[in-house]
Amino acid sequence: MIVFETERLKLRHMTTDDLDALVAVFGDQETMKYYPSAFQRDDVKKWIEWCMKSYDENGYGLYAMVLKETNTVIGDCGHARQEVDGEAEIEIGYHVLRERWRKGYATEAARGAVAYGFETLCAQRLISLIRPENIPSRRVAEKVGMKIEKSVLRKGMVHLVYSCARGKAVASD
Ligand SMILES: CC(C)(COP(=O)(O)OP(=O)(O)OC[C@H]1O[C@@H](n2cnc3c(N)ncnc32)[C@H](O)[C@@H]1OP(=O)(O)O)[C@@H](O)C(=O)NCCC(=O)NCCS
Repeated sequence: MIVFETERLKLRHMTTDDLDALVAVFGDQETMKYYPSAFQRDDVKKWIEWCMKSYDENGYGLYAMVLKETNTVIGDCGHARQEVDGEAEIEIGYHVLRERWRKGYATEAARGAVAYGFETLCAQRLISLIRPENIPSRRVAEKVGMKIEKSVLRKGMVHLVYSCARGKAVASD
């Protein structure tokens, strides 16, 4: 099921058939350097199952990012339910296959996810939780109109909470 599209990408529900493509994304050490470790195949399977459960339970989740040109999965992007300081939040998340970095795909997908979050999910606000050292991810958040609100500790690591409110997100180049 396609959830939303952008110029070059389709964001659709993940399925267990996406395992190999997503192992290429999440199994890469460089891609996962701001996470405790790269994912093993079984961790990626659990990630897909967690996303599929979220579609059922929350009506949203992280979606497979499909490049229209090749019809291949090059990452994920979408929405994840998070709790921050006791409040339920909807987070925009994104991961892109390393060989496809710096072509604007994460920004393009995240802009689509912000629009979908406000227009279809009717979210009042959206956030992204980002390690301060993760400059590429911070740039994506800034380019879709998010601003740093505060920092929080998650799993013992400092994370910046980027956020944008409904009607207030102004995307930039
Ligand atoms: C973060 C990530 C999704 C960005 O994907 P991408 O498709 O390369 O992003 P874009 O091409 O849209 O680029 C977004 C911005 O980040 C910058 N950027 C991308 N890769 C970069 C790098 N390795 N070093 C410095 N800046 C980088 C781009 O230049 C651009 O900023 P600019 O407009 O100021 O030049 C990708 O780096 C990734 O998958 N990282 C690992 C997973 C991750 O950390 N996800 C976020 C968790 S919070």
